[in-house]
Amino acid sequence: MATNRTFTMIKPDAVENGHIGAILEKISASGFRIVALKKTQMTQVDAETFYAIHNERPFFGELVSYMTRGPIVAAILEKENAVADFRTLIGATNPEDAAEGTIRKLYATSLSENAVHGSDSDENAAIEGAFHFSGREMF
Ligand code: PPS
Repeated sequence: MATNRTFTMIKPDAVENGHIGAILEKISASGFRIVALKKTQMTQVDAETFYAIHNERPFFGELVSYMTRGPIVAAILEKENAVADFRTLIGATNPEDAAEGTIRKLYATSLSENAVHGSDSDENAAIEGAFHFSGREMF
């Protein structure tokens, strides 16, 4: 059975463009409960560690630089079937391919600046949530 939590980040482009409130509202309206939430900024080591699985990919340097250039909003979200439902809510990685009404269609600017992250598995949701939050910050 699918676990009921996922992890997300509102990325620097969406924070810079003033979309935190609208994105959190859409997440809430879609039935996700906020378990943990904070505004923070990733260091280079944070981003290299968080995205380590992609370190051989050609865009890795660009991704680390983007994700560290300003604040993000990190959150753990709860809902039945959270990982899959949240991936549906945010839309395709490339906003040009994202369905109408999805967060990336509405708020992302490009493939490399795509507004939000969503965990791709229950296992990674737990790892990524624990990367950003201690047990005392989850409610
Ligand atoms: S996904 O969504 O994980 O299946 O997509 P994937 O293609 O595996 O991408 C992994 C993360 O890298 C980001 N990405 C890119 N960044 C910069 N430039 C390019 N060209 C690019 N392509 C993909 C993508 O948004 C994924 O980051 P997260 O934070 O998981 O969204």
